[in-house]
Amino acid sequence: MLYIYLALIIVELFLLVFVILFSIEVGITLFRRTAPQLPSQKKLRDAVIGEINSCYPNEHTIMDIGSGWGGMVRRIARKFPKMRVTGIELMPLAFCCSWLSWLILGPKNARFMMGNAIKCISNGMSADIAICYSGTSLMKEFAPLADKFKIVLALDFPLPGHVPVRTIKLHKDHLGQHMLYVYSR
Ligand SMILES: C[S@@+](CC[C@H](N)C(=O)[O-])C[C@H]1O[C@@H](n2cnc3c(N)ncnc32)[C@H](O)[C@@H]1O
Repeated sequence: MLYIYLALIIVELFLLVFVILFSIEVGITLFRRTAPQLPSQKKLRDAVIGEINSCYPNEHTIMDIGSGWGGMVRRIARKFPKMRVTGIELMPLAFCCSWLSWLILGPKNARFMMGNAIKCISNGMSADIAICYSGTSLMKEFAPLADKFKIVLALDFPLPGHVPVRTIKLHKDHLGQHMLYVYSR
């Protein structure tokens, strides 16, 4: 009987944490009008990996600006075990899921942080390569800080005020034509 009570308490605690995190997310989304937490598709991740593999295989650090549920970070970190891959995510629920799955599944060269990526970059955080798959508003905020990175790989949304060194046309689907914009300083 005691075990059943304990199990119920644990389930209720999980639900409570979930509801709190979910409410915070809804609040932040409404308040900041952030991009939806749509994870990147496999083909988009492959395109980013292909670009790093062919043009920038010797870089050391990568930052995913708005890492969502963490799929991009984990995939890249597994593909490039010598690189340190950091994901920064604003939303607590998505961050918790990415952090928990990292805790269980790794890989070791990945890490997740919760916070406003723009503030972190303004405060000095950087990497060799930045990856962005976020809406136009985040790209606008990021544009003045983009020069802190050697390379910026922007999926679907170009960096306002910057001229890409390469624009790669990817596949087309119900979301429209996917693009990869490559910026290098
Ligand atoms: C389209 S998702 C991309 C997820 C991930 N990069 C991927 O490829 O699967 C964009 C993410 O950016 C996050 N985001 C938006 N503004 C942010 C900010 N200022 N700092 C950190 N994350 C932010 C959103 O919460 C969302 O999860």
